[in-house]
Amino acid sequence: MIVIGSDHTGIELKKRIIEHLKKKSVDVKDVTNFDDQTGDDYPDIGYIISKNVLKERCLGIAICGTGIGISIACNKVNGIRAAVCTNKYMAKMTRQDNNANVLCLGSRLENIDVEDIVDTFISTDFTGGRHQRRVDKIQKIEASQKGGVEYGNSL
Ligand code: RB5
Repeated sequence: MIVIGSDHTGIELKKRIIEHLKKKSVDVKDVTNFDDQTGDDYPDIGYIISKNVLKERCLGIAICGTGIGISIACNKVNGIRAAVCTNKYMAKMTRQDNNANVLCLGSRLENIDVEDIVDTFISTDFTGGRHQRRVDKIQKIEASQKGGVEYGNSL
């Protein structure tokens, strides 16, 4: 399963990706499945996507105008490694080396081969080995930062 969501800027791109994945018989969970989005803030969307990725133990796709804002939001959730990718190489390496679990895309970027990026991201496995040690270090940083009020309680 792939969890997907977008803020108001990414509705059309999200639909395009869902169609693409469905053609490939990939199970998709759209967590922002409403058509009248007018003011959905990317931090809220990033949070919803992230919680669903953790719940379903799967990969996610998060879309905002640049991909940057939503990646910052997703990366605040413990256990999420979100990466903005603008080409296939980035998508491949962030799965192989970083074990990224959320792909962030920019709906307002031009000349991006979105389908190729998505296909590469979802079909590339984490290499493990020395990269596991580095990802473990990221998790240690996360663990050292825990505390505070869960954001979802204020939504
Ligand atoms: C919304 O205008 C825009 O700021 C948002 O989609 C995203 O690009 C933020 O990083």
